[in-house]
Amino acid sequence: MIGAGYVGVVAATCFSDFGHTVCCGDSRPEVVLALESGVVPFSEPNLKELLEKQLRSGRLSFSSDLGYLINFADVLILSVGTPSLDDGTADLSAIEAVAKFIGENTNSDKIVVVKSTVPAGTCEQVEKLILAQLTRRAAHHRVSVVSNPEFLREGSAIVDFLQPDRIIVGLETEEVGAIMKSLYAPLLREQTKIIFMSRNSAELTKYASNAMLALRISLMNEVAQLAEKVGADIQSISLGVGADHRIGSKYLSAGVGFGGSCFPKDLKALSAVGKQNSIEMLLIDATIAVNSKQRTLLVNKASAHFQNLKGLKCAVWGLSFKPDTDDIRESPAVAIVNLLLHAGVTVSAYDPVVKKLPNIDDLSTKKFQIVKSALDAVKDADMLFLLTEWREFMSPDFHKMFKIMKQPVIFDGRNIWNSKSMSSRGFTYFSIGG
Ligand code: NAD
Ligand code: UGA
Repeated sequence: MIGAGYVGVVAATCFSDFGHTVCCGDSRPEVVLALESGVVPFSEPNLKELLEKQLRSGRLSFSSDLGYLINFADVLILSVGTPSLDDGTADLSAIEAVAKFIGENTNSDKIVVVKSTVPAGTCEQVEKLILAQLTRRAAHHRVSVVSNPEFLREGSAIVDFLQPDRIIVGLETEEVGAIMKSLYAPLLREQTKIIFMSRNSAELTKYASNAMLALRISLMNEVAQLAEKVGADIQSISLGVGADHRIGSKYLSAGVGFGGSCFPKDLKALSAVGKQNSIEMLLIDATIAVNSKQRTLLVNKASAHFQNLKGLKCAVWGLSFKPDTDDIRESPAVAIVNLLLHAGVTVSAYDPVVKKLPNIDDLSTKKFQIVKSALDAVKDADMLFLLTEWREFMSPDFHKMFKIMKQPVIFDGRNIWNSKSMSSRGFTYFSIGG
């Protein structure tokens, strides 16, 4: 496994749990050192326990020596990052660097599995890069490149990896299919579907899946805006729409918009690839536009309520892009904190796991602080913004909150509380789409 981030560590640990001998490598030696000693450098439920168990089994190891790693195994799985470039396209430099390195260093036949999210045509490009180096060295090793996109979610990564709805494998030569089946053997015994297709189709299946989920969220966010105007309630609407089994109930929750390291970057990449191919990706662009607008909604509501936000104090609950992770990449909460700071608001934030925000614009102005508890955050606050629906926020001590807030005004960006009961407790309560 090459790339020890969220995907690499989870996949390496689970493949070891399947009985395979796995070595996972990364170009950051400090990450490898931590993992070798059983420390997970990010927050993911149940991962530490599984990591420690697999380290004890002797099947799982870590290395920052990529030369060693390349010749450790017959199957090389690439899980390096593919972040957005300024023009929205996926930055494939890490994938390309690893491909070149494999070509330069492999001393036997290899199956190279691309697990990172990459545009259609990347596996073909990876194969070309490896073959070019083999030709240069006059080496005659056979290399097959396979697409095997990953669908796990942060916060439930292990369960998702061990119980996937499907395993997608894109390949050009049939014989590699048997090896891919043996890689996932325990899951296939449990009837998980493995779907074989061409590499380009597999690569695009990943983007289409993320786009479909993001599109559902943006659709509900757009309907939520209309619901507010016409006196309807988006939560009832979600229930009603989701009850249709052709639609299903998942990914229909309106809120402050989607974030994370994947939906925003993958939608941008899909739109950019469309343009490169002279296809205007109208739905993808609209999904992105609705999501950007959604991030401004709560601050606009606060401006309308208070007339002037300058000088007010706001408590923020939740900074990660979703619960059960410390990931703040493209977090709507971080974007909203920045909007508040730019409006002259002082922000006191609390999150169960995020204890610092490295990329916040106005840190130096001392108008932003992260405090130790949810109640510390709301003390003397003129308003509370609920931005990530962590379980511990579901049933807070409302009585105490009411007493210690300067003004009992709540903006619930994830619709976790009930409008009627909040009003009966004396709060002025705003939610999304209700
Ligand atoms: P990440 O940023 O957490 O991890 C990537 C790792 O790759 C880092 O540790 C980095 O140091 C390492 N790396 C970069 N260049 C390297 C090189 N040349 N050699 C060795 N290591 C190198 O990323 P992630 O969240 O694990 O995502 C990885 C890929 O999987 C991305 O394409 C992403 O879109 C996709 N994906 C992510 C998720 C998710 O939930 N995070 C889910 C499915 C798919
Ligand atoms: C997403 C996909 O769900 C995974 O299948 C995929 O593998 C991954 O991206 C990826 O490609 O990396 P993830 O970003 O970890 O997973 O998290 P999700 O649970 O999908 O949530 C994404 C965002 O959508 C979060 O900000 C969440 O708050 C938001 N969301 C989700 C909503 O606003 N409403 C919903 O109904 C569901």
